[in-house]
Amino acid sequence: MGIVGIGAYVPEQVVTNSDLEKSVQTSDQWIRSRTGIEERRIASSDMDTSHMAIRAAEKAIADASLHPEDIDLILVATATPDYVFPTVACMVQEALGIRHTPAMDLSAACSGFVYALVTGKQFIETNTYKNVLVIGSEKFSKIVDWNDRNTCVLFGDGAGAVVLSEVSEGKGILSFELGADGTGGKHLLVDNQTNYVTMNGSEVFKFAVRQMPESCMNVVTKAGLSKDEVDFLVPHQANMRIIDAARERLGLDKEKVSTTVTKHGNTSAASIPLALFTEIEKGLINDDDVVVIVGFGGGLTWGSLCLRW
Ligand code: ACO
Repeated sequence: MGIVGIGAYVPEQVVTNSDLEKSVQTSDQWIRSRTGIEERRIASSDMDTSHMAIRAAEKAIADASLHPEDIDLILVATATPDYVFPTVACMVQEALGIRHTPAMDLSAACSGFVYALVTGKQFIETNTYKNVLVIGSEKFSKIVDWNDRNTCVLFGDGAGAVVLSEVSEGKGILSFELGADGTGGKHLLVDNQTNYVTMNGSEVFKFAVRQMPESCMNVVTKAGLSKDEVDFLVPHQANMRIIDAARERLGLDKEKVSTTVTKHGNTSAASIPLALFTEIEKGLINDDDVVVIVGFGGGLTWGSLCLRW
């Protein structure tokens, strides 16, 4: 099975590095050179994670030429739900006017979208459900301390969604890998007292630079392919230097790798579907292309997929 429809949404408000220079001791030059980020989108106070998820989902369903009532299961990957419950998935279900469709949120931080895609795949493979709506949506701005320069320059808000269904033989998801290392949980967490993200940046960086390239190679091998056959890489958009490490391991040219981090910052579980949507819109991912998707994040977690488009 594979992706038969895709949609995305980013809030209108653009916050540039120069804007952040006014509130914390940082510089456009520092942020660009350390992360590649130039700007990010920030949602207004009346727009929460569910609102962005709904907009992305509507587009994905229309792109798949389906109607909301054709959806059999809704999965939302998010670390920033509107409420502990009801889940964002249930809020999406209500907004789309679908009744009695199972709906749940899944949490694996920035790897959440890959975890959700793999979960959806299992239900289709076992013929339990036909069309699964998988959404990654985050309003990270509400768990960022805007006075902490170590974190506030990194994140942004947004959503992406796909519809997973059966596709023709030889296409769609060819292989996947999911992983976690709970011993590294302390390096990236949302503090219970402050409700803000705290991070040991260099430890997360080392983990990502090691794990992302290895996981990419694992799914390519599992798919029975060689790295020379990979046409495009869509990595989690956290940091340009981490993206470059994965790209170099696969031996891909720069134009074969998504780098939407420059315009969106790190949107956590939304980053991969948002990047995928952006590259498809630009015409950079085409029929029959071999695409590798790889995520990493808090937990620590990672996950990757190899697909034939
Ligand atoms: N502006 C200016 N200076 C800053 C800023 C800033 N915005 N942020 C930190 N600094 C300072 C620090 O205070 C520190 O100063 P000190 O040396 O005087 O103590 C110094 O810069 C740190 O510099 P470096 O060690 O050179 O920073 P590094 O190259 O490690 O880059 C970064 C930091 C960008 C955070 C990097 O470590 C990184 O990207 N790590 C991965 C983070 C990540 O991907 N997180 C998301 C995970 S996904 C998820 O699940 C949410």
